[in-house]
Amino acid sequence: MFIEIAEVSKQFLQRGGATPDKPFAALQSISVVVEQGKMLALVGPSGSGKTTLLRCIAGLETPDQGDIRIDGREVFSTRTGANTPTEKRNLGLIFQSYALWPNMTAEHNVAYPLRRRNVPDAECRARVARHLELVGCGHLGDRYPHELSGGQQQRIALARALVYEPAVVLLDEPLSNLDTSLREHLRAQIREIQRRVGFTGVYVTHDQGEAFYVGDRVAILGEGRLVQFGTPDEIYRNPNRAGVAAFVGASNRVEGRLGAGGGTFECQELGVLPLAAPVPGAATVMDRVLVGACDEYTLELRGGVRWRARSDLRLTRYNPGESVALAIAPDEFLVYPGRA
Ligand SMILES: Nc1ncnc2c1ncn2[C@@H]1O[C@H](COP(=O)(O)OP(=O)(O)OP(=O)(O)O)[C@@H](O)[C@H]1O
Ligand SMILES: [Mg+2]
Repeated sequence: MFIEIAEVSKQFLQRGGATPDKPFAALQSISVVVEQGKMLALVGPSGSGKTTLLRCIAGLETPDQGDIRIDGREVFSTRTGANTPTEKRNLGLIFQSYALWPNMTAEHNVAYPLRRRNVPDAECRARVARHLELVGCGHLGDRYPHELSGGQQQRIALARALVYEPAVVLLDEPLSNLDTSLREHLRAQIREIQRRVGFTGVYVTHDQGEAFYVGDRVAILGEGRLVQFGTPDEIYRNPNRAGVAAFVGASNRVEGRLGAGGGTFECQELGVLPLAAPVPGAATVMDRVLVGACDEYTLELRGGVRWRARSDLRLTRYNPGESVALAIAPDEFLVYPGRA
């Protein structure tokens, strides 16, 4: 494992105004690993601890508990007291505000990490040119940040993070300031560059789609805890709790109870469903919208319950108002314990 995070916890003191400061657990015993050359996507709602965990990996935050290893080296441990400073962890960092130096051209921005490391001039120039080329900005070297679009600035920041060929690149919401189409374009580029260069990455985002796109593995955080960790496929097919199922989207949710023996599920909206066979049901089409190569239907079931379903465009298309039969594949039907 290239990055190993073992039982990392971090508390902050929350200022309580008139009341005394209260400790608040931003990270609670988080353990995740990232294999060499792979990308881990860290995803979760605002305040769930993503940035805090990234800052712990970077050495910008000191955990209260736990161990962090990078490339077999212990960079942090409360057991041994190890705490390698950030600049010795061989990391490339890209933060949400990509903060290029405004008074330096793109080329000088990218050269900065090399100059700080006293890389000789000729080699510096060659590496800068190669990395500007890599991010598709070979022609923009002379421009100042204010003469670049948001996406171009983002790519220059990426080149700057990669130029000294760090083994690990940490990215905190690197695309959140950009519009959707540019974000999708750049996330594809980041993925491609990551595969080509082969760095090990941790990519923070609160966007589930982006996490599943860029991550070889995805770690879902919620209130400082690791909620689920797995490949996008595993998480999508088998969300380990109802909250994750809702978060990964494309799911419908009904409340009901398991029949005796667990072979059936009973709810008002769908009746008694045998869990081992397709579930038939009558529904009315309320709406149809095109989503990529699929039609997405909003259906209405008994009791006025809304249900979302997707269908390949090449299959029969239904219009609002039509009655349709609904079949739910048993292996796509997941049952979670409720509050009772
Ligand atoms: N230096 C700090 N002092 C006190 N509390 C902090 C500090 N840094 C973070 N926190 C708190 O820790 C929690 C986790 O913060 P963090 O920045 O890791 O969240 P996040 O998942 O990155 O959220 P976002 O998606 O909004 O960026 C939040 O409740 C935040 O207020
Ligand atoms: Mg954050």
